[in-house]
Amino acid sequence: MKKEAVTELIGAEKIAARVKELAAEITRDYEGNEVVFIGVLRGAVVFFSDLIREVKLDAQLDFVKVSSYGDSSKSDGKIQLDYPPDTDLTGRHVILVEDIVDMGYTAKWLREHFEIYSPASLKICALLDKPERRKVPDVTIDYLGFTIPDEFVVGYGLDYSQRHRNLPFIGKIEL
Ligand code: IMP
Ligand code: MG
Repeated sequence: MKKEAVTELIGAEKIAARVKELAAEITRDYEGNEVVFIGVLRGAVVFFSDLIREVKLDAQLDFVKVSSYGDSSKSDGKIQLDYPPDTDLTGRHVILVEDIVDMGYTAKWLREHFEIYSPASLKICALLDKPERRKVPDVTIDYLGFTIPDEFVVGYGLDYSQRHRNLPFIGKIEL
């Protein structure tokens, strides 16, 4: 198995500082309210666990897993929910925590799908955004960690063929 080289793009300390800022922003915005944080497996799991520990709110946690199906060589917007939330989200303040918004299909699908549960509010928090790759024009990211150029990134939860998720920093790989 060929091992691809990883070049650091965003270091662990910079990530930690930004995660603290995002958590402070969320804490301010939801003061006095209970929030259900929903991590999107698997890529968001490291970001999620750091973020929720910096949020000073009454929080509940849940997870969903989504995958794209159809032609695996091109994500063309067909998304399925492999693992639904098991929290009743009706009337709740929900924040979906995602790893990265790339073409935007996943974020758009998640936002539309979660409206079905009639939450009191629904927001998306993503660690990374690659706007140059966007195919869906109207994706709103309510809380964003970093905007990055069109590079394939790994680490801090993100993978390439399930590898590199446990790197403490975000790096790019040459494909
Ligand atoms: P979208 O539907 O095209 O926005 O795809 C979003 C999903 O693609 C993310 O949740 C990731 O799982 C995956 N993805 C997109 N870009 C990258 C990347 O650079 N590294 C790792 N995973 C990525
Ligand atoms: Mg993902």
